[in-house]
Amino acid sequence: MTTSPLVSNGWYLGAFSDEVGRTLLQRWILSRPVCFYRLRDGTVTALEDRCPHRRFPLSLGRLDGDVIECNYHGYRIDDRGSCVGVAEQPDVPRNAKVHRFPLLERDGVIWIWTGDPEQADPALLPDTSWLTDPGWTHVKGLVPLKSRHVLLVENLLDLTHETFLHPTSIGNAAVARTPIDVTSEGDRVSFTRHMVGIEAPPFYQRSMGLTSPVDRWQDGDFHAPGVFVLNIRLAPTGTEEPEGYHMKVMYGMTPETGTTTHDFFVLGRDYLTDDAELSAFQLQQQLAVMQEDVDALEVQEVMVASETVPMTESSIRSDVAGIRGRRLLERMRKRETPADGARSADRPRPVSGPAPTPTPAPAGVVGG
Ligand SMILES: [Fe+2]
Repeated sequence: MTTSPLVSNGWYLGAFSDEVGRTLLQRWILSRPVCFYRLRDGTVTALEDRCPHRRFPLSLGRLDGDVIECNYHGYRIDDRGSCVGVAEQPDVPRNAKVHRFPLLERDGVIWIWTGDPEQADPALLPDTSWLTDPGWTHVKGLVPLKSRHVLLVENLLDLTHETFLHPTSIGNAAVARTPIDVTSEGDRVSFTRHMVGIEAPPFYQRSMGLTSPVDRWQDGDFHAPGVFVLNIRLAPTGTEEPEGYHMKVMYGMTPETGTTTHDFFVLGRDYLTDDAELSAFQLQQQLAVMQEDVDALEVQEVMVASETVPMTESSIRSDVAGIRGRRLLERMRKRETPADGARSADRPRPVSGPAPTPTPAPAGVVGG
C-alpha cells in the first residue's frame, strides 16, 4: 500500500462557510491549488489557483469587484475563470481560462467537486440539516494531518481503536469487545455498535453527567469518498429510544495531497445547547482525541510509505467496515477515467481557436 490513488468524482468538504468571504483563500485539494472567494452577491466561487498566464497564484492577487487581478502581470480573471483583460494593456488573451470547480454551499459547509463536473450530483451528499437545526449546537474545526486519506477513513470505520488510543476520554474496554454490524449500499458503508450496561467513558461522564451503567450507541456512516458521520447516543441503561443524549460528529476527510489530508470536523449535541462552558470542554476534548489520532496516523503513514518488501496484512472481524471502505474507494477510483480528474482547464487546450463550451451544472450546484 505504498501508493493510494485518490477519488476525484466526489464531494469533499472544501471550507466552512464562515472561512470564505471577500478575502482570497487558498487551499490545496487533491494536489490542486484552489482559490475560494465570495462574489459581491455572496455566492461562493472556487477557481484553480494558477493564473493562466504564468501560473502565479491568483489567491495572491486582489479582488476588483468580482474579478481577480493577478498580482504578477495583471491578468484579470472573472468568477467563471475566464480572462477578461489584462490591466493597462489593450488586448484580451484568447482562451485564457482556469478551471472553476462545482460547489455546493449547504448548512454552513462549502462542498467542492474535484472530478468531472457533469457528475456533480447534490443527491450524493448526506443530510446535514442537523448542522443548522436550532435544537442542536455545534463546535467545529480543521486539523491538519500528514497521512494519506485512506488511513483516516479506516481509522473512523474501526472505532475499536478508541479502547487503546483514547482510554482517557472516549474509549474503554467495552468498545473493543462489542462487535459491529456492517452494511453497505452504493457508495456508503455503515456500522452499528450497541454497548449495553457499560461504564461511561470519562468524556461522556463529564459531558452528560452520566453515572454508570449506561447504554452507548455508536453508529457510523461513511459516504465515500470524503464524508463520515458518527451518530452517538448515551443513556442510563434500559432507557428507551429516542431518549438519552445525542451527539453527532461529521468528519470532512479531504485529501490535500496523496499523503496529507484536511481533517475537518463538526461535533453537535442536542442537549444543554446554551451551555458555552460545555461547548468549550467538548471542543477541547474533541481536539485532544483528534490529536491522538493524528499522532498515530502520522507514524502509520511513515510505516506505510517506507515499506519496500511487501508484507502480508493481518485482519480481524472488527476490520470488516474499514476493509469495505478501502475497497469501495478502490472501486470508485477504478470507475474513473484519467480525464475525470482533469476535465475543463486541466484538459490540454489548443493554443488558438474557440473557447470550450461550458457544461451546465446540475441544479443547486454553483460552477462547473
Ligand atoms: Fe480516534
